[in-house]
Amino acid sequence: MNKLVVIAGLLCSIVFSSSATAADYYEELGGQKGVEEIVDNFINEISFDPDIVTFFEGTDINRLREKLIEQFCMESGGPCEYTGDSMRDVHTGMNISKGQFNRIVELLQAAMDKAGTPQTAQNRLIRSLAPMRPDIIHH
Ligand code: HEM
Repeated sequence: MNKLVVIAGLLCSIVFSSSATAADYYEELGGQKGVEEIVDNFINEISFDPDIVTFFEGTDINRLREKLIEQFCMESGGPCEYTGDSMRDVHTGMNISKGQFNRIVELLQAAMDKAGTPQTAQNRLIRSLAPMRPDIIHH
């Protein structure tokens, strides 16, 4: 009986610890400082893209920065909560194309390159954001 309890305990710790490492890449992004640098670089990249920047005329950039930091932190398993609007609500009415969506992903990759984010963590963040695509394009 005792043996069974020990084995069950071991199995649980293996399952929980491996799922935690699989989900968590906040530290790989560089923690809070890393996420802030990525978002600052991202906003900078957006500001230099003549097609994409037009979408952000009239946007409160301080709010955008704050919400993106919360979102990337939360998605990567960091100690934050996203308090912004839903992706569908935010992007509805913009009629964003697939090409423009892909372009913003490229700008995010450039932002992460400039922040020195490891490739594995870059891929993980992009993979976390990919399911939002249907809520963002063509609304
Ligand atoms: C992976 C893709 C994307 C993610 C994760 C994302 C995320 C966000 C977030 C978190 C906000 C702030 C929400 C809030 O204020 O509550 C936002 C706002 C905004 N996004 Fe996106 N976005 C994406 C793609 C795009 C694309 C492709 C465009 C246009 C080409 C775009 C245009 C905008 C604009 C203009 C705003 C500001 C809206 C306003 O002024 O209130 N986004 N986005």
